[in-house]
Amino acid sequence: MGVKNESFIKACWGNNDGRIPIWIMRQAGRYLPEYRAVRERVSFLELCKTPQLIADVVRQPIARFDLDAAILFSDILTLLEPMGVGVAFPEGGPQLNFTLRRPDDVKRLKDFDVTKEFSFVADGIRLIKQTLPDVPVIGFSGSPFTLACYLIEGKGSKSFDKAKQFFQQYPSAAEELIDFLSDVIARYLKMQIKAGADAVQLFSSWDGILSFEDFSQYTARPVNAIFGQIKRFGAPRILFVNNISPYLEIIKDIDCDVVGVDYRACLNRVAVALPGKSVQGNLDPTVLFGSREHVIERTLQILDNLEHHNNLIFNLGHGILPETPLESVAAMVETVHGYEREQ
Ligand code: CP3
Repeated sequence: MGVKNESFIKACWGNNDGRIPIWIMRQAGRYLPEYRAVRERVSFLELCKTPQLIADVVRQPIARFDLDAAILFSDILTLLEPMGVGVAFPEGGPQLNFTLRRPDDVKRLKDFDVTKEFSFVADGIRLIKQTLPDVPVIGFSGSPFTLACYLIEGKGSKSFDKAKQFFQQYPSAAEELIDFLSDVIARYLKMQIKAGADAVQLFSSWDGILSFEDFSQYTARPVNAIFGQIKRFGAPRILFVNNISPYLEIIKDIDCDVVGVDYRACLNRVAVALPGKSVQGNLDPTVLFGSREHVIERTLQILDNLEHHNNLIFNLGHGILPETPLESVAAMVETVHGYEREQ
């Protein structure tokens, strides 16, 4: 195990005494000229389905910056295709060719063999491990509620009102949908760990629109079920929640190892509220549009504000934006790695 591998995985378990690890949400993406060059040749979906291309783009940000973890290149929505839901990625954002409108529609979603349908993901992970033997690889999936949001709305939305309404109008169909998705997601993450993923992350990107009570039912319950099924494989389980602050009391009791924190929250407050869990985050992605001094200052602010650093994985508090200056990314990475903490 190289140095990189040690700091990320150790931080996931809360016992890192080496340098503070950092990776970046959406680190292989359009802010990189070398990623845009690949995308000129192939569509987004073709890229997601070609193991060699997956390994190539996963390596791009690692080659440019001194990052401590790689993340599988895929999308949370590709998991819907074998259910019978076509997904397209036009300029304006993802589009599904099927939407859940009535309770009966849940039964039209097909169950499938994850290993058979996603061999390109397993092959992609194996190739990443060969290309980057010293760097831990993070596998991922969307959370059940976040995937349900897209299935009901059929596309992205600012508030996913239709999805929220469906959950209130048809609670038993909603539960059936969440249980079906949880089962598929657990098998999908298990497959990724078996292929070599060193950690896995669930993206609860839209769960943060739920009421406190519904968050217990539609996030905590299924996430516990999913993570409970993969615990024995020993890979750290990361739960990223976009808009985490209202739900800390619930998240405290969720069975996960690391909590990914959005940019709105005070990272130290979250860390204090979640004893025994590591934290990952949470620089506002727009900070990277400021001056070099501003990037360094805001990065140090988060680091200085934390009481403990042995359970910290530095990251942005949401995905990196397409126009982000590369110099800012370098400044953030250098600041995190150069940070001298009190032991
Ligand atoms: O480097 C990485 O982080 C790994 C790859 C990754 C992508 N999507 C690639 C991608 C990951 C982890 C995701 C997760 C994802 N996808 C989430 C959860 C994270 C979050 O943002 O909260 C969500 C909600 C999606 C759904 C999705 N995919 C949207 C809304 C969009 C369009 C918006 C956008 O940024 O373009 C996508 C497309 C997408 N997924 C791109 C990439 C690199 C851009 C497509 C392109 O190359 O043209």
